[in-house]
Amino acid sequence: MKLTDITLTVVGVPRHTGFVNKHIIVRLHTDEGVAGIGEMSDFSHLPRYAPDVKDLKRVLEQVLVGKNPFDITLINKELLDNFPEAMYYYEKGSFIRNGVDNALYDLCGKYLGVSAADLLGGTYHDKIKVCYPIFRHRFMEEVERNVEVVRQRFAEGFDVFRLYAGKNIEADEAFLSAIHEEFGSRVTIKSLDFSHLLDWKEAARVVKRLSNYPIELIESPAYQNDFDGLRHFRHKIDHPVSEHVWSFRQQFEMIKQEAVDIFNISPVFIGGLTSAKKAVAAADTAKKSCLLGTTQELSIGTAAMAHLGSTMTNLDYTSDPTGPELYVDDVVKDKIRYENGYLQAPSRQTAGLGIELDETKIKHYAVPDLSWNDVTVHQLQDRTAGTKS
Ligand code: LMR
Ligand code: MG
Repeated sequence: MKLTDITLTVVGVPRHTGFVNKHIIVRLHTDEGVAGIGEMSDFSHLPRYAPDVKDLKRVLEQVLVGKNPFDITLINKELLDNFPEAMYYYEKGSFIRNGVDNALYDLCGKYLGVSAADLLGGTYHDKIKVCYPIFRHRFMEEVERNVEVVRQRFAEGFDVFRLYAGKNIEADEAFLSAIHEEFGSRVTIKSLDFSHLLDWKEAARVVKRLSNYPIELIESPAYQNDFDGLRHFRHKIDHPVSEHVWSFRQQFEMIKQEAVDIFNISPVFIGGLTSAKKAVAAADTAKKSCLLGTTQELSIGTAAMAHLGSTMTNLDYTSDPTGPELYVDDVVKDKIRYENGYLQAPSRQTAGLGIELDETKIKHYAVPDLSWNDVTVHQLQDRTAGTKS
């Protein structure tokens, strides 16, 4: 079997917050008629420039056309040569590699009639606990709105939440207090996520201030790639510390410097299922825990993570992928659904990722390119459409 062509379709899908995220839906075609689908999820992050999609298609054709899609190792190596790792969390080359790699697993799984999870090592978990994100407060008046989000989502079965914190500490505190008062132990706050916005010492001060409330772990409490800062924070604060993995060099430094307890691993940020599997194995070797992170993917990207998560033996903490609940719609026929706050692992009967595109929805959400509308840095960091500054 040989790859013959690649189709890239840009879609812009709004979230319930009003923020529109742009993704690229990938289709890989072969000379045997089997096709694979993948998702380059969420180009709507800083830095505020975008790849040219026509140019990207040309480059990917040069890498892919004529190759056997089962040559996943070779293809990943060539992708890495063309889209090298950077020491940056939102490196767009990783998103590009991820979309191709998850489409290869879909394609190879469909060809063999086995699930992507079976290609990745078989199912170890049948469901993955996830938490619903509460986006960062900048103003006190956002607190009540976020408490209402918890009420609604709790009624739908989500009982674990995470809070993006650190821009308005009074508001963070008021939110935690309101949730504690109203829900007590029925709701768990998994984490405070500082998203690298604060120096580690400032983050430590904030955590101490908020530590009257039960919080399971602290995420990204230092500037990006400040391994010393992460280690100092970890020694000073009792909570387990988690950090995203965005390059193997960065993961190696975090292991070497004993800087974290938990690796937050998402295919989108490390460049695909193949790379994510390797990062999970490195974490395991270093006796570290993992959780599945997210950029908030659509259903294709989320399905890929469900396949990966179902194979992980060190998935010790609640995971993050809830994208299909955050967007107002999707581009597939069988949108991912959550039950009692769990993402279901795909059944063994699934072929590939087990997701079917909805052409009508793709047409509806298709946009010409990844160009930016008028968004501010705050909106990009906080994932909201709120314009107040
Ligand atoms: C999101 O898009 O909601 C997340 O990727 C935000 C983040 O950077 O953690
Ligand atoms: Mg995070």
